[in-house]
Amino acid sequence: MAISERRPLVAGNWKMNGLRPSAVEFSRIMAGSAGLAGKVDLMICPPATLIRAFAEQAGTSGIAIGGQNCHAEPAGAFTGDISAEMLKDAGANAVIVGHSERRTLHKETDAEVCAKARAAWRGGLIAIVCIGETQAEREAGQTLDVLGRQIDGSLPDGVTAANLVVAYEPVWAIGTGLTPTSADVAQAHEFIRQRIVEHHGVAGNSVRILYGGSVKLSNAKELMAVPHVDGALVGGASLKAEDFLGIAAVYR
Ligand code: 13P
Repeated sequence: MAISERRPLVAGNWKMNGLRPSAVEFSRIMAGSAGLAGKVDLMICPPATLIRAFAEQAGTSGIAIGGQNCHAEPAGAFTGDISAEMLKDAGANAVIVGHSERRTLHKETDAEVCAKARAAWRGGLIAIVCIGETQAEREAGQTLDVLGRQIDGSLPDGVTAANLVVAYEPVWAIGTGLTPTSADVAQAHEFIRQRIVEHHGVAGNSVRILYGGSVKLSNAKELMAVPHVDGALVGGASLKAEDFLGIAAVYR
């Protein structure tokens, strides 16, 4: 499939940021999104407390709302957790699973991430599965081995273009201002594409692969021009409507 046949997606991961007054910033994103309609899909993943409000605010604007994590089970005695079904019930369309902050701080394994992706599908959500190497792994020349292992371990059977997005987020590039070279991004994304197609068939050609890690206004154009980069998962820069919209405007 030609690259242009995959509609780009620019998703903002707000992480643990945002209170009710953040609705104002979300309104600004909505206001600016009109000019991008049909060219790029937009999504905001606010903290769980804001999902319902943002989903209601988003209405028919076309901006999708995502969660940042879910439990593998639909319900039960799991204090403090949230299920895919609950996210869906609150108005989410998608959920990020396996973000490196969850893998590192909450010791999530590939098997757990895989179970969460399966839960996302069960709950009717798109699973945005994050993968990426650490600085030490990159320096040891293990980047592709790590990505291969994470893809094999984190993606359930049943992948389609409609139910999965993969985000390549080098751990060392997250929140640091550092980014890989275009050549490094190209190598990683091509490898990810091949691996998904190898294990999940031709549907893998249509799955969107996002780049994440210090995406900002100044580097978005270059990063989004890399083959097999089908959009961005934006952290810090997604908290400001102007920056988030500016990044998405690369696809205008
Ligand atoms: P930054 O854009 O702040 O580096 O965060 C990237 C990220 O982790 C998105 O999920």
